[in-house]
Formats: sequence, structure tokens, C-alpha cells
Amino acid sequence: MTAPIAPFPAARPRRLRATPALRAMVRQARLAPSDFILPMFVQDGHDSESVIPSMPEVTRKSVDRIAAAAREAWALGIPAVCIFPYTPLSARTADCAMAWDDDNIANRAIRAVKDAVPEMAVMTDIALDPYNIDGHDGFVRDGRIVNDETVEALVKMALAQARAGADILGPSDMMDGRVGAIRKALESEGFRDVAILSYSAKYASAFYGPFRDAVGASAALKGDKNTYQMDPGNSDEALRLVARDLAEGADMVMVKPGMPYLDICRRVKDAFGVPTFAYQVSGEYAMLKAAAANGWLDGDKVMMESLLAFRRAGCDGILTYFACDAARILGA
Ligand code: PBG
Repeated sequence: MTAPIAPFPAARPRRLRATPALRAMVRQARLAPSDFILPMFVQDGHDSESVIPSMPEVTRKSVDRIAAAAREAWALGIPAVCIFPYTPLSARTADCAMAWDDDNIANRAIRAVKDAVPEMAVMTDIALDPYNIDGHDGFVRDGRIVNDETVEALVKMALAQARAGADILGPSDMMDGRVGAIRKALESEGFRDVAILSYSAKYASAFYGPFRDAVGASAALKGDKNTYQMDPGNSDEALRLVARDLAEGADMVMVKPGMPYLDICRRVKDAFGVPTFAYQVSGEYAMLKAAAANGWLDGDKVMMESLLAFRRAGCDGILTYFACDAARILGA
């Protein structure tokens, strides 16, 4: 509902834009460091990190450095991190068994963060793509992604993450029935308080390219993910998927990518009123960084404006590679 506006000159909307104080008084959307979840990439090794060329200033870190980076993020007011493992092509298998190994690097990183900063929330990613020889989120049989077998594997993966101490599980695989299966397993194994932030409305997007480089999936991936991720032309389907995931036991939902799908964020928030997150994905990050590096855009300003847009669109929080940089600006 929009209030009727008086005719000019009774109404002069510029009155409330005249000074920083007036603008601050009437501003509706704001950002705080507590809005951010920091995604981090973990790799093997000790006291080392490596660059990801398509994601300037983001690095893959060894477990000890992940713990140190989480401590820094916590000090900036960021409440949560999300852990993604890197697996080289040579270590990938068709059975993806490493995905539910209690001692895989992702699970070691979860433990390391919980040891270093017990108060910080640790989120995970549930999907087979960091381990799969085929680079897909599910098992591939005769060129098809098989749903139900994949869900069984995802449940094992989820339980290993819960045992490692994860606070929030993030199924990003887009298989049908996975949230319900994971919730049931968590209940029966005594993990009643582990939350699920479901990647409910996850689109088959070309904006994930740099992420696939970061986790080592680009070299492995055959074909596309169009048979399980959402078609970018759809929006009603996003509402159905959110409703389905909530009914199956999700505590929070996500829209992904972020900036090109702000209309979906708004529709989800308005329709359900549940904690709603957006993932400002790797390609969105790369795009803004590249323009800033060329001097075509003011990097800090477009970063803050892009993040504020998520709050205006109704999101409660944002997964963003800018989390620390933005928190530093907000804290200054
Ligand atoms: C894996 C996953 C992806 C992202 C998060 N989890 C990639 C994909 O679905 O191919 C993308 C995140 C980003 O681009 O920053 N299931």
C-alpha cells in the first residue's frame, strides 16, 4: 500500500533528501555485519592458501587458515561462515565416498572453526559436486542424474557434517525429497537442533562459473545442471519449492543467484514470511570486482549498494564473498 501524495508544491519529496540526517531518518533498508554469511573454500595442506583467478582476493585456505579467517570474520561481527571443499580432479570418484567421510577437509574445517570460535554458526553445503568425478551434484547413471540414490548419499553427508559440529546444513543439490530425508535422519540420530537452510530456489545459472573453478568442479563437469536446477524463466515454481522445503522441515530458505533474482526474493518473503536468504554468487562477485579493477565502477560503493538491494528485496541475510569487506566499512 502506498500513501496518496499531495500535489506539488504541498509535496516536495526532495525535502526529505536534503541532508544526510534527514536521509538517515527516513531510510528503510539498512545493512549490518550480522546480515552476512561468509562462504570459504578449504583445501588440503597446512598454513597455505592459493588464489582463485576468477575470484580476485578470495583464496582457498588450509584448515588452520580457515579457522583464523573465521576468527577474523567473527571479530568483524559476521555471525556465520559456510564451508566449501576443493577437490582436485585426481581425487574425485564416481561413488563420491569422500562426501560422507568424517575426516574430509570440509568436516575438519567445520571442527576447526567450532574449536576456534565456538559461538560462530557454521553452515555447510550438501551436494556431491565437490567430490564427483562427473562434477554433478548427484550421481550420474547412463548420462542421467539419479534422484533417489543421490538423496541417500546426501543424508550420509548431512549426518557427517552434523557429527562434525555444523549448526546449519545447506542442501544445494536440488534433488527432490532431500530436505525431508535429511530432517528425518537428523531427528532419529539426535541432532534435533541442527538447522536446515535449504537452497530452495536455486536456478541453473551461468553465474556459478568462478565457484566451479574454486572447488575444482569446472574441469570435471560434463554437460549442464538443467535437469535439476531451476529454469531461469520460472518464478511460480520457486514458491512451490519453498513451500515444499518448509513442509519437509527447512528452517530457512535461500534464493540463488542473488542480484538477477531479486524479484524472487521479494515474492518468497511476501508469500511465506520465513527467514529468507540470498546467495550473491561467485559470478556476481567476479563481475563487480572486474569492473572495479578496470576503474569502471567504484568497487566499495557498488558492493554496498548491491548488498543493500537484498535487504530492500526482503532478505534477512546474504551469503556473500564481500562479507568481510562490507563489515569493515560498516564498522568504520
Ligand atoms: C554446489 C554449489 C554451487 C554453488 C554453491 N553450491 C555451484 C553449482 O550449483 O554449480 C555456487 C556458489 C557460487 O557461485 O558462488 N551445489
